[in-house]
Amino acid sequence: MADHVTAKVTVPMVRARKRNRGHQPLVMLTAYDTPGARIADAAGVDVILVGDSVANAVLGHPDTLQVDVAAMAHHIGAVGRASPRALVVGDMPWLSYHLSPEEAVRNAAVLIRAGAEAVKLEGGRVRLPVVEALMSAEIPVMGHLGLTPQSVHAMGGYRVQARSTTAAEALMNDAKALTAAGCFAIVLEGVPDVVAARVTDGVDVPTIGIGAGAACDGQVLVFHDLLGLGDKAPAKFVRQYADLTSVAVTAISSWAADVRSGSFPSEAETYHLPAGH
Ligand code: KIV
Repeated sequence: MADHVTAKVTVPMVRARKRNRGHQPLVMLTAYDTPGARIADAAGVDVILVGDSVANAVLGHPDTLQVDVAAMAHHIGAVGRASPRALVVGDMPWLSYHLSPEEAVRNAAVLIRAGAEAVKLEGGRVRLPVVEALMSAEIPVMGHLGLTPQSVHAMGGYRVQARSTTAAEALMNDAKALTAAGCFAIVLEGVPDVVAARVTDGVDVPTIGIGAGAACDGQVLVFHDLLGLGDKAPAKFVRQYADLTSVAVTAISSWAADVRSGSFPSEAETYHLPAGH
């Protein structure tokens, strides 16, 4: 079934996008500012995730633990002002939903008022009270399981998760519990493909994979990884489609050379007084 629609993408539309019901895979890309959101939207993505990966991808931090609600709201606002056709999902940053369901709802409301149409949070059954509180405040929730970057220290680094039978069963139970609590989609990050495939078959909301193989109901990548704007070799699961860093360095070097040679600005790039002054 061709799913490329020109209408605004909504939470119910995303929730319905199971491949086993004949739908095409969902396409989700991160974006953190207005030009990025315009580019992603012009390319026809279904969902724009204003991820807490803004911490690493844009703000130069080593991990995602360094951004708070105000920083996320700042970037969500910039994406929202692009008025994208894609659904805008805002990441709940670390510690914004860990202290109490009430605080989680208040923090999620800040992100919704900034321009998010849904929020994403990391974790499984331990998050059920928070997911339920958000649902009762009419805030749609996307889950995130597997390699959850906000748990980097607890996991002992960024490691593929759910490799043992017990861990794979726990992941499945988490996914079922999040679905029963009302999550409209679940990101599966850094898990073996067979485990992601079983979870995808086991829940009736779409799974969106990143480093989780081809069987998921959708795929997500980080904007800067896909476009070659990062400063490190991309992870195994990234396919880099462009080298925009090289394109930008070449363009800026050309301008610098033109300034130094005196060929910039030209007459056509210069304002003049009206004739007679
Ligand atoms: O913040 C982010 O970019 C994410 C994706 C990797 C799913 O959570």
